[in-house]
Formats: sequence, structure tokens, C-alpha cells
Amino acid sequence: MRRILVAGNWKLNGSIAMTKELIGGILAGIGEVNNADVAVCPPYPYIPLAQELLAGSPVALGAQDVSDQAQGAYTGEVSAAMLKEFDCRYSIVGHSERRSLYGEDDATVARKFVAAQAGGLTPILCVGETLEERESGVTDEIIARQLDAVLDAAGIAAFRQAVIAYEPVWAIGTGRTATPEQAQAVHKFIRDRLAGHDAEVAAAVQIQYGGSVKPGNAAELFAQPDIDGGLIGGASLKVGDFLAICKAAG
Ligand code: PGA
Repeated sequence: MRRILVAGNWKLNGSIAMTKELIGGILAGIGEVNNADVAVCPPYPYIPLAQELLAGSPVALGAQDVSDQAQGAYTGEVSAAMLKEFDCRYSIVGHSERRSLYGEDDATVARKFVAAQAGGLTPILCVGETLEERESGVTDEIIARQLDAVLDAAGIAAFRQAVIAYEPVWAIGTGRTATPEQAQAVHKFIRDRLAGHDAEVAAAVQIQYGGSVKPGNAAELFAQPDIDGGLIGGASLKVGDFLAICKAAG
């Protein structure tokens, strides 16, 4: 049985004070979260503080990105092994903001996925179509291309130790959420595509939904058969909303 995984993606938000406040609040309420695994992904500089605050708690730590390189002359990069030293379990890879604003293409994302796993992290691989792509009817084609780039580079077995996040670009930070039916259809497409390689791996992999998840829509989304939690942006910055979303897992 797949567990629900709710991960907070803080993006470029935070401070020392906010890290203490947010994590303190999450830990104060986590006892009431029964059916979800929970993770937070703060900006890099707050990861050591988050590690300290989360020690011994059930809340996991993740990074928002990871280098595709292990070490060397790559100014500004942070490797998976470095993140692992601070007890990070996850790293988001291929978030649409990285793809669209920082020019990460499918090949880069695939290398990051491989590098994350090589360094001992579980990648949260983001895939998703733009509004234009959805409206021109090529959603499946786009998702297939993004998935296949990673399947080709890493192989299906790598998905035993990975999470996928379906994040329609048009729903991220826009207040526009995919309907549970729209999201479920793409989640099923993703699972079926993986099942074409290995049915057992496909049945086990967690597929999160991301894009304007809020306390008011989380339960309905998480109730879909192929939706296994959420990657939460804006609402992860408010303790009450984030915990309410975690509790929406049941
Ligand atoms: P949002 O962001 O919840 O603010 O829409 C989700 C994400 O980008 O991971």
C-alpha cells in the first residue's frame, strides 16, 4: 500500500526565524498527522538548522535542487553527498521553475536524478505541462518525454527509490488547481507508462500532485487512486495550512 507523502517546497522564502517558526509549528502539530509522511524542503542555507530542529522527529528533510555533478570545479553547485551529510532524504529535481527560469532541459534533469540517487538521496522528479501544451492536447506527449528522459538515463529500477511529482505548470502558484479528475488522469498515465517497463515498480512508486494544493482541495486530490500526496509551495509557508493538508491524508 502506498503511503501519502506531503512535502513542503519553500522555494526562495525563509529566514532563520522563519525556519524555526515553521518547523516548530509543524513539530507541535505532527502528532495529529496519522496517515501521511511529511517532509520539508527549505533553501540550502537553512538545511543545517532544519536538520537540528527535525532530529528525532518523523519529519524528513529535503533540498529543492541538487547538482548533476558529484564534485569539482562547479561554482555555486551543491552535491547530493553534501546534502546527505545533513540528513537530507529527498531532493526535488526538475521543478518547472528550474526548467523554465534556469534553462534545465530533460537531459540535465535526468543527470540530476542520477546524481541525487548516487549520493544517497531520493529524487522527487517533477513533470508537468504548460497551459499552452494542455490546450493544444499534447499533455501526455510532454509528460512521456519528461519521464522517458529519466527512464532512459536511470532505468526503471531506479524508480524503486524515487518519487514523482505531477505539477501542471499552469496550476503552480496561480491558485488554479487541476481538478481531481484531471490530475488523476495524468497520474494514471504516468503509472501506466512506468508499468510498461515494470508493473511492480509502477505500483509502488509514490506520485505526488503539486500546484495550488490547499487545505480545501487536498482531501479530494489525495483520495484519487493514483495520487499519493502533494508537493506544496505557497501553502507550506503557513503552519496551519500545511498541517491541514497533511491531515487531509485521513
Ligand atoms: P504552489 O507550488 O503550491 O505554490 O502552487 C507548488 C510547487 O511549485 O511545488
